Amino acid sequence: MCGIIGYIGKEKSLPILIDGLKALEYRGYDSAGVAIFSNGKIQVKKSVGQVKILEKALKNDIDLVSHLGIGHTRWATHGMPSETNAHPHSDCQNRIFVVHNGIIENYRELKEYLKNRKHIFISDTDTEIVPHLIEDFLKSNHDFNIALLDALKMIKGAYAFAIIDSKNPNTLYAVKFSSPLVIGIGKGDNFLASDPSALVGKTKDIIYLKDGEIAEITKDNINVINFEKQKTSPEIMRLEWDLEQAQKGNYAHFMLKEIFEGPEIVLSALRGRLKTKENLVKLGGLEQVADKLKKIKRLSILACGTSYYASLVGEYLFEEIAKIPTEVHFASEFRYREEPFEKETVAIAISQSGETADTLAAIRKAKEHGLLTLGIVNTVGSTIARETDAGVYNHAGPEIGVASTKAFISQLTILTLMAVYLSKSNGHSSNNALFQELEKIPEKIKTILDKCSQMEALAEKYKKYENFLFLGRKYNYPIALEGALKLKEVSYIHAEGCSAGEMKHGPIAMISEKFPTMAIVSQNSVLEKMFSNLEEIKARKGPIFAIATEGDKEITTLADDVFFVPKTIELLEPFLTVVPLQLFAYYVGTKRGFDVDKPRNLAKSVTVE
Ligand code: G6P
Repeated sequence: MCGIIGYIGKEKSLPILIDGLKALEYRGYDSAGVAIFSNGKIQVKKSVGQVKILEKALKNDIDLVSHLGIGHTRWATHGMPSETNAHPHSDCQNRIFVVHNGIIENYRELKEYLKNRKHIFISDTDTEIVPHLIEDFLKSNHDFNIALLDALKMIKGAYAFAIIDSKNPNTLYAVKFSSPLVIGIGKGDNFLASDPSALVGKTKDIIYLKDGEIAEITKDNINVINFEKQKTSPEIMRLEWDLEQAQKGNYAHFMLKEIFEGPEIVLSALRGRLKTKENLVKLGGLEQVADKLKKIKRLSILACGTSYYASLVGEYLFEEIAKIPTEVHFASEFRYREEPFEKETVAIAISQSGETADTLAAIRKAKEHGLLTLGIVNTVGSTIARETDAGVYNHAGPEIGVASTKAFISQLTILTLMAVYLSKSNGHSSNNALFQELEKIPEKIKTILDKCSQMEALAEKYKKYENFLFLGRKYNYPIALEGALKLKEVSYIHAEGCSAGEMKHGPIAMISEKFPTMAIVSQNSVLEKMFSNLEEIKARKGPIFAIATEGDKEITTLADDVFFVPKTIELLEPFLTVVPLQLFAYYVGTKRGFDVDKPRNLAKSVTVE
């Protein structure tokens, strides 16, 4: 998705903007651009492709004295990737420059209106109407703020704008409606970004703008008003991420670094929450709604992508541990369906970014129907975190890899804790075995990571295939779905996740010597059933690669290749079976020659519908 960066202050703006655009690269984009105020006018540069191309094009300008600027990475929606369509966009006079995230739904209508008023458009974008609309209102009213407010009244859709005006060299304008925008508070300077990770290393004090807010930012001051022109008092939050977490370190890719963070991620999600001696889970973020949670009759989990697959594991956990009927919805489906709502249903939104548009809309719908809403969110202060009634933070640090890995591990941890927290057995010794095993998970993940070279060699063997079936049962069914998603995302191999029991109702038709199966075959209550499925595949000459439990001898007679993982209790198996699949996707993707940190067509944070 698109990224926004803005700067005003004592430093030279261009290097800061370029740095910010590089920090936003992971979100996915196809072109980039900047506009800076320098020598009494606004100068613009855009390029198609990576930020480094833009940086090269700007090499003679990098030292320009400029204390105000905006930048953007564009992920094409309206109009193909091109310099003309790249942001910033401006009005007929080249006075006002705008970068935009989101979608302006009524742009066709507004474009027609403005064309009839003699405005000339050069791009295919929806964004270009914004500077023209402000320009149009400035003709009848010379106050920029009033013209901006009048323009906003006409715009429908989701948007975050950063705007500069050549007649106001000391002001950076920011507008937010349904698309995230964060102000970073510096000393003698201020920053603007669509994603707080772009501010890591610059400042820790941030303001999340709320929907319908406009910020007028100078180097020493931030004035926030709402669309009704009333002054608001934004809350300053502390961003606890540090620079090291947002950098690759010695790893070739963020994806690999984040897979290797798995053990630490589990520990930081458990810290202060798992009280093994007391057999107790304590979740501070849920205390304020603890009484209401005692009355839960049903849970509805709302999520997208990898967070959705973690939710599917959560469904098994909540039902087995807490005995609460649970259903999981794709947020994009939930928001449009017409199901009857039962009282005492609690909705849980799961989101790494806390900004996914569909998940946000789904949680808003749940609230409209009077449901209590909880969040499992990684990004502190994000919109979903703020809009849910209560919740639990992942504390996983920034996740930069577009293909989510560490967030998934963290979500599994929080879901396990939450299932115990919501169960009647919280505080009883019956949890003893689960808690002790949970504490061993980081060490067990480590033993898997220590064998990464074995997975690398297997990836070399399997990288030639163009199709893959991923099979699992019970707790490992969602892991089969997640494993297939990871492979698709970074290697562009067609991969299909399937519940092993469903295989014979369709997917088995595809099996041949050219169509391998990745089977998750843990030593658990469904082991025999999995073996039967593998026999069926073998009978059809399908190559089998199994993720199996250490000590399982039988699997080697059925599978062509096996990667062993340590034994654990059934409900914690996903922690150990997903890691080899993350490694597999990573190695296959890189061996096929792809930059796995920048998968084609994908975005890290999907803030439009
Ligand atoms: C995008 C990302 C996925 C992520 C999904 C949900 O599609 O590429 O990695 O799982 O959004 O994101 P969320 O931030 O809500 O967990």
